[in-house]
Amino acid sequence: MSTRLSVNVNKIALIRNARGSNFPDLSKICKDIESYGAEGITVHPRPDERHITYADIPVLKSLSQTEFNIEGNPHERKFMDLVLDNCPHQCTLVPDAANALTSDSGWDTIKHAAFLTDTIAELQSKNIRVSIFCDPNFKMIEGAKKVGADRIEFYTGPYADNYHNNRAKAVKPYAEAAIIAQQNDLGINAGHDLNLDNLRYFAQEVPHLMEVSIGHALVVDALYYGLQNTVQMYLHQLR
Ligand code: PXP
Repeated sequence: MSTRLSVNVNKIALIRNARGSNFPDLSKICKDIESYGAEGITVHPRPDERHITYADIPVLKSLSQTEFNIEGNPHERKFMDLVLDNCPHQCTLVPDAANALTSDSGWDTIKHAAFLTDTIAELQSKNIRVSIFCDPNFKMIEGAKKVGADRIEFYTGPYADNYHNNRAKAVKPYAEAAIIAQQNDLGINAGHDLNLDNLRYFAQEVPHLMEVSIGHALVVDALYYGLQNTVQMYLHQLR
């Protein structure tokens, strides 16, 4: 099974927003990213709309030829309405604070079980696949199954942080947790701080990895290698 690459385009929106005009044109960039071989587009609208705006979502969804994934915190009713109105292929639920710089941990699927169960059912009633952001923790993964998630997305920040010290040790919790997820019939995605150094090893070592979503490093790499080369370099890591 090859792992799909979904490109998170938040950082491109951030550059556009810096000048208040439509440059670079995010719609064109998303179409180009797909034409270069990426198998999905991910957007993560946050309440302050500092990168992707709520108004971007219907436009990008209507253009998308691959898989459209919206990430965000469902405690915001505005986020839920946006997802339900636009029906992406996948919604990834993330427990980040409204003013968080970036996501930094997975759900406590036991503490938030009632809320997650209702939220996931509401999204699934519109045929939206639901993935929930998760640390590689067996109890949280079993909790993800109980609340009805279709997939989990591993939070890979700690893997990336520890990769250069001891990559075997860094990946071990994820490889083990993937087996638990598979036994619970949960699909497996992953994301955060994956890059051209650490991606191949993660995809090799973590069984049943269906999808990675990558934004920050990919956009930075595109400054050096160009967007087309960069997308293809990431795809190459996964093949
Ligand atoms: N997955 C989630 C839930 C995220 O919040 C982010 C960052 O927005 C990513 C994946 C992608 O992380 P990165 O930008 O470090 O590749």
